[in-house]
Amino acid sequence: MSASGSNETLHGRDALGQLDNLSLQVMGDILQREGALPVSGSCTQAEVVERLQVAPRHAWIIERWLLALQRHGHLQRDSDGYAWIDPPHAPQLIQLEQLYPQLGFDAQMAGLHQQVIAQLPALLADRLTLTQMLLTGNDPVAALGRYQCNLFTASLNQLCAEYAVGFATEGSPLRVLELGGGAATLTQVLIEHLDGHSLNYHFTDLSSLFTSAARRRFRLEPGFEVSVLDIDIAFDQQQVAHAGHDLVVAGNVLHNAADPLLTLRHIHACLRPGGMLLFTESIEDNLAMLTFMHLLLSPPAQAPQRRRSDVFLDTTRWNEALRCAGFQVIGCYPDDEHPLAQGGQRLFHARRPQ
Ligand SMILES: C[S@@+](CC[C@H](N)C(=O)[O-])C[C@H]1O[C@@H](n2cnc3c(N)ncnc32)[C@H](O)[C@@H]1O
Repeated sequence: MSASGSNETLHGRDALGQLDNLSLQVMGDILQREGALPVSGSCTQAEVVERLQVAPRHAWIIERWLLALQRHGHLQRDSDGYAWIDPPHAPQLIQLEQLYPQLGFDAQMAGLHQQVIAQLPALLADRLTLTQMLLTGNDPVAALGRYQCNLFTASLNQLCAEYAVGFATEGSPLRVLELGGGAATLTQVLIEHLDGHSLNYHFTDLSSLFTSAARRRFRLEPGFEVSVLDIDIAFDQQQVAHAGHDLVVAGNVLHNAADPLLTLRHIHACLRPGGMLLFTESIEDNLAMLTFMHLLLSPPAQAPQRRRSDVFLDTTRWNEALRCAGFQVIGCYPDDEHPLAQGGQRLFHARRPQ
């Protein structure tokens, strides 16, 4: 993978570091201001959750906050729980307005993130939901699209599309299944790159909000099909043919799987022998998103235990899961030394053996 746009990328790396720092400050501010983790004394994670009145389905977020604050030297942990050693400064939220554009995000993301931060105690307690906030005054499909439009995701989507073009052959159509197509950010890049190739493109998502939007947006694309599909359920029970695809793609979706190994097995089953899987994933916590969009990753209130606290698997765990599901691992990009690696996302490339 080349270091294309490296000035922009280096700029983005600085901004990412500052955004991480600001996010730690937001977490520290809420924990102190709400009396969940006072400046002196220690508290267990359960006490913090109780004092903040965090809804059980969001408790995993507090676990990730405490671990992040500990990892960055703000908290220490002993048998009594967590205690501050170097509490972060108060956040200057105005900085968001410079940082988001530097990371390639739409400027509106800064305003939305500020609104969410202002409501975080209510959101964590489920007195308000992020979905409600996105629905009032915003187009949720556009909001998710803005979240996917950034320097790091765009580079990996681009690379994914370049690989996809490599699988397209003359003659028979390339049969593509997209999982969790969402706001179709990846779809758009793929369709543009595959222009001129014969294509059967099956766009899917769990939410009919996204499948309806994709059906409208791509209605003129030849060979474009749309349906609702849950990655947790065997695909052949959802009208997706066994061994019927040349390529499966998923952009920042597979972390939603209740059991990632089982989902990889479903994917393996729907690929023809020799078929390819390309998916992008975060391989570590994104601190800014832990005070923002990751509230959407919490399970429904009726099944609060469904969320693993380690939502994002690292490269080693994904590669193990791929092999266990029967895939041959081809690669993972960028490598850890690449300037884009700091974004914490990777493109995974695997094949169903012949
Ligand atoms: C980060 S978004 C994907 C963004 C999209 N790939 C893009 O490029 O715009 C994650 C998507 O996964 C979908 N999703 C969540 N759980 C799912 C499941 N169990 N099965 C299928 N899709 C799911 C969500 O509805 C959401 O659209």
